This record gives sequence, structure tokens and C-alpha cells, in this order.
Amino acid sequence: MSPGVLTFLPFGVVFAGLEMKNLIETERMLIRPVRADDLAHLVCWWNDGEVMRHVGFPNGLGITMEKLEASWKKWKDDPVQCRRIICLKSEMISESGCVTAPIGETNFHDYQPDNKQVEIGIKICRPDLWGQGYGTEALAAMTRYAFEALGVDRVLLNPSKTNARIIRVNKKCGYRIIGEKHGGLLMGLRKVTWSSP
Ligand SMILES: CC(C)(COP(=O)(O)OP(=O)(O)OC[C@H]1O[C@@H](n2cnc3c(N)ncnc32)[C@H](O)[C@@H]1OP(=O)(O)O)[C@@H](O)C(=O)NCCC(=O)NCCS
Repeated sequence: MSPGVLTFLPFGVVFAGLEMKNLIETERMLIRPVRADDLAHLVCWWNDGEVMRHVGFPNGLGITMEKLEASWKKWKDDPVQCRRIICLKSEMISESGCVTAPIGETNFHDYQPDNKQVEIGIKICRPDLWGQGYGTEALAAMTRYAFEALGVDRVLLNPSKTNARIIRVNKKCGYRIIGEKHGGLLMGLRKVTWSSP
């Protein structure tokens, strides 16, 4: 499919062809690479202390659009380690047919193809939507993608020890505490013990 070709997904959303290659779909959401028009959301979320205090930044990152744009240009075309936006399907269609409801972001990082291992980071960045199962649904989908599309044997997460919500989400997705890293917990799931829903 050539860039710019529009494709109709089963639920009627118009999607640019390039993104179809790297699209993760769940029952209620789509997870796709960050685009230029998502950067304003990221700046807003990453500077929000309510979201970022759970990852060690109680006052937010204090990042500017210029800095974020420079960073985005470095990873936007990496098919594995690009950041991804989590969008709700039910809120997606605007009058212009564009995706309009980003609610969070997630990424694969520290990808080690030789060791068949990758780490996941995840944030649902709208606190008003916490506790509705979106974090669990997104992490389960990222985990499946890691095992089935990236072909890794082990997936890791590195939550802070006091982040009870993400520790609970990780456990619901099958992750277990296996050690410590950077002062936080190291949680892991092996493909042999993973059971796909
Ligand atoms: C962590 C996060 C992804 C969870 O998303 P979410 O959509 O709220 O998660 P879910 O609704 O799927 O599940 C939340 C679970 O945590 C539980 N929970 C909520 N607060 C809790 C607490 N203080 N202690 C223990 N469990 C708690 C909920 O009861 C629910 O579990 P249940 O389904 O067994 O009842 C989201 O809150 C977030 O992004 N927070 C800010 C950034 C962050 O912490 N990211 C993780 C970095 S490692």
C-alpha cells in the first residue's frame, strides 16, 4: 500500500495507508504510531503532574514543543520503538473523518532482538478515564504484539514500587515481579507462561 492511500477499517474509520502497517487494534481502541498532530497532546500530558507523578515527575517533564518535535523526528520511523498513541474507537470519528480521541501513549523500548526481549511503557493520560479497564486492554494488546509480531520470548515492565495501579494492571496481564531496576520493580512475562485471551 502506498503512503497516503486511505483505507476503510471495518468500523468505518478512514486511516492513512502508512499507519495500517503498524496498527494494533483492541475491542475498544486503536494503538498507532505518533503523528505530527499528536505532539500537542504529548506536550500537554507530559507536563501534567497528575499523570506524570506516577512515573517520578510530580511537576511534569517541563518539555517544550520544540524539544518534543526534535525527539519525535528521531524515533517516528522506527517500526518497533516509535511511541504509539492509544485512541478510543468510540470517540474517533469527527466531521473531517480524522482520529480525534487520543487517551494515552505507549511504547516498546530496550528492544533486544538477539535476547528476544523488549520492555513496554504505558500511560492512560486522561485521569477521568482511569479505572475503566483501558490500561489493562492496552497492555494486553501490546503484550500480544510483542510475542506474536516482534517474536520476543520475554516482555518486561519497570514500574515504580509505589505505583499500585500499574502493578495491579501488570499482574492482571500475567506479569510477575522478578527483581528491581532503576530503583523500581522489574516485572516480566515469558511467552511460555503467557496465555492469550
Ligand atoms: C496505570 C494506568 C496505565 C492504569 O490504567 P487504567 O485504565 O486505570 O487501568 P485499569 O482500569 O485497566 O485497571 C486498574 C486496576 O488498578 C486497580 N487500582 C486502582 N487504584 C489502585 C490502588 N491504589 N491500589 C491497587 N489497585 C488499584 C483497579 O481497581 C483496577 O484493578 P481491578 O480491575 O482488579 O479492579 C493509568 O492509571 C496511568 O496511565 N497512570 C499514569 C501513568 C502511569 O502510572 N503509567 C505506568 C508507568 S509504569
